[in-house]
Amino acid sequence: MIISSPADYRAAAQKRLPPFLFHYLDGGAYAEKTLRHNVDDLAEVALRQRVLKDMSQLDTSIELFGEKLSMPVALSPVGLTGMYARRGEVQAARAAADKGVPFCMSSVSVCPIEEVAPKLDRPMWFQLYVLKDRGFMKNVLERAQTAGCSALVFTVDMPVPGARYRDMHSGMSGPNAALRRYWQAATHPHWAWNVGLHGKPHDLGNISKYMNKVIGLEDYIGYLSANFDPSISWKDLEWIRDFWKGPMLIKGILDPDDARDAVRFGADGIVVSNHGGRQLDGVLSSARALPPIADAVKGQIKILADSGIRNGLDVVRMLALGADCTMIGRAFIYALATAGQAGVAHLLDLLEKEMRVAMTLTSVKNVAEITGDLLAKQKL
Ligand code: GLV
Repeated sequence: MIISSPADYRAAAQKRLPPFLFHYLDGGAYAEKTLRHNVDDLAEVALRQRVLKDMSQLDTSIELFGEKLSMPVALSPVGLTGMYARRGEVQAARAAADKGVPFCMSSVSVCPIEEVAPKLDRPMWFQLYVLKDRGFMKNVLERAQTAGCSALVFTVDMPVPGARYRDMHSGMSGPNAALRRYWQAATHPHWAWNVGLHGKPHDLGNISKYMNKVIGLEDYIGYLSANFDPSISWKDLEWIRDFWKGPMLIKGILDPDDARDAVRFGADGIVVSNHGGRQLDGVLSSARALPPIADAVKGQIKILADSGIRNGLDVVRMLALGADCTMIGRAFIYALATAGQAGVAHLLDLLEKEMRVAMTLTSVKNVAEITGDLLAKQKL
């Protein structure tokens, strides 16, 4: 299969992956309307083409929390990354480090922190939720700190897990799920060989290490459902803010009032996100939620945004709408599932190339110049 664009990786990943994994990644909550709007609203953002301004010297790099990023992109935390490619967290993190962008490890990753961090020549970020098991939270934060993780991304839009109806149909859950997954693995031999057989252990590495027993895939949904804490409020985050030495980002902000609360709380950054349309269907897309949030808090706190970014042009659009940096989730996992570390490296190169074309044709020489000025008044 010919891969010429980031979108090709989605099609390739669909061929390679057992359906239960593809749909878990690709799907969203309820009717998936917010998921579609994330992509479509961003794709509808029209830019002003400007020409003849000597764009021979372009700089895509930024500085964020004292780190240099070669471009304003970080890899979002994605649970079970290690089910999409053999020891997937290691492969994705290596590609990110080579490119000079942050990899954010999910707390529900397959590889534990200790397997990934020592293999990198750049610190990774770490993601956590508020879980009922505060012992695990403390343990994993200590381990992330020991491993040199440079930023904490705290996800707050999952006090309850979203309803992902595709999962029952695909075999991620539902009747005879284990049997269906075995059959799917048997009929996807490349994945079965690479990940199914040689990518073991298939467990939630960080949690297994804490519990001293193997917490496997069958327990994943169960663990999440049993452990998310609907009582969470800003107060619960105070000990984490005081405990964690580095920058702390609050991920899952979609409203200017919550963004103001994050500033008052003393967060270093927010991630404007609806969890990739995987939580509450019917909330605004990130592209539409972002501008009023930027109006409210830009300059007081770093604004990152995810949900809907599938290519380098989208990165420029999100910055023009008010973000300081972007995060990509599905886009890099499609590439990881298709071609491992090399796939993610290629995807990141494609993103940079697309960013450069967009910057050249909107006549911005560096990322700081990507502002609302780039937005065309008319719709596409
Ligand atoms: C976990 O964060 C998920 O979106 O499935």
